[in-house]
Amino acid sequence: MTGVRVAINGFGTIGKRVAKAVQAQPDMIVSGVTKTGPSHGCALANRYGIPLYCTDDSPDRIRSFDGSEYSVSGGLSDLLSVSDVVIDCAPGKVGQKNHHTYLEAGIKHIFQGGEKHELTGISYTSCSNHSQNLGVMGTRVVSCNTTGLARTLVPLREVVGEMRVECTMIRRAADPGDSNKGPVNAIKPVLKVPSHHGPDLMTVAEKIDITSLAVAVPTTIMHVHAIVAYLPSGHGLTTADVLSIWENTPRVISMSGSSDGIPSTAEVMEMARDIGRPWGDLHEIFVWSDGVSLDGNVLRYFQAIHQESDVVPENVDAVRALMDIEQDWRVSVDITDRSIKESFS
Ligand SMILES: NC(=O)c1ccc[n+]([C@@H]2O[C@H](COP(=O)([O-])OP(=O)(O)OC[C@H]3O[C@@H](n4cnc5c(N)ncnc54)[C@H](OP(=O)(O)O)[C@@H]3O)[C@@H](O)[C@H]2O)c1
Repeated sequence: MTGVRVAINGFGTIGKRVAKAVQAQPDMIVSGVTKTGPSHGCALANRYGIPLYCTDDSPDRIRSFDGSEYSVSGGLSDLLSVSDVVIDCAPGKVGQKNHHTYLEAGIKHIFQGGEKHELTGISYTSCSNHSQNLGVMGTRVVSCNTTGLARTLVPLREVVGEMRVECTMIRRAADPGDSNKGPVNAIKPVLKVPSHHGPDLMTVAEKIDITSLAVAVPTTIMHVHAIVAYLPSGHGLTTADVLSIWENTPRVISMSGSSDGIPSTAEVMEMARDIGRPWGDLHEIFVWSDGVSLDGNVLRYFQAIHQESDVVPENVDAVRALMDIEQDWRVSVDITDRSIKESFS
């Protein structure tokens, strides 16, 4: 097998999905994934036929796998030495501790949204700034929320130009596989106002002046954004035009809550399970077509974000940008999505 050799450091919620998506690509191979110790998740690496490594190089850590049913091919440095690029999928804020290791190894690196933009000084979303990321040493794929905002607001900005946006983010309390977070029986506002979520879009997209409020609610399955965008005068669009822009945008799905029978995130997730992707993932941003209204210059709409998976194909495209193997983001997105679809169906 040939292709860009992609290491995945951290094989949890995001890492295992990214590994499977990279495995599906015609121009990439997964050189290995890492775990901190011998745990249940190692079995998945074995099942995928991906070499397993330890997240660090300490002999004690590596020896912790001895006697378990999982064997490792070495530590992180060993993995980096047989790779061209590393996708860091460590828990938020842990990735930054791995940064110096990547710099010392001289390897290209991609972080996730749990790290700060300042870590790499550049961030990534395929529809916003693929070209700015061509050939760079390191980047950060923005968070699931920021990715969702970029998918619907950037194509709109390309048509109307500069705009101001207010967004309320109704956030899932925890991922389905996470028993450590909450709230379980409360609605918890983020009391840092405005929240950091919306403004993070400005790290990848110019000319969108955005602020946000955020609130966590007791659900595990999706985030919902309630968005108000102030379009410039003379934009000339109708609500139908806006929907048509999104219909022509990759990785955005628009369906009707009433006539398609998808009134809430529960039905969106059921539809995602019907599609047959592993884990019931939905890489696309879901917009309720009957929840979109353009009134003069004010556009209001709702969208739902599958937090565990919308960033997954973005990581694949980011590899193509850093390795400078595809300059056109639309071509990269097409290869990524088609390969994922073919391998998962
Ligand atoms: N979950 C989401 O909804 C979501 C969405 C978008 C972006 N993100 C971002 O993606 C990143 C990963 O989040 P996640 O939800 O996948 O976390 P996670 O489920 O907790 O998985 C993290 C993985 O990193 C491994 N790990 C622990 N210490 C490490 C180290 N020092 N170096 C490398 N790997 C290490 C863990 O190994 P063990 O399994 O062996 O403990 C685990 O496999 C974060 O930046 C997060 O903010 C998450």
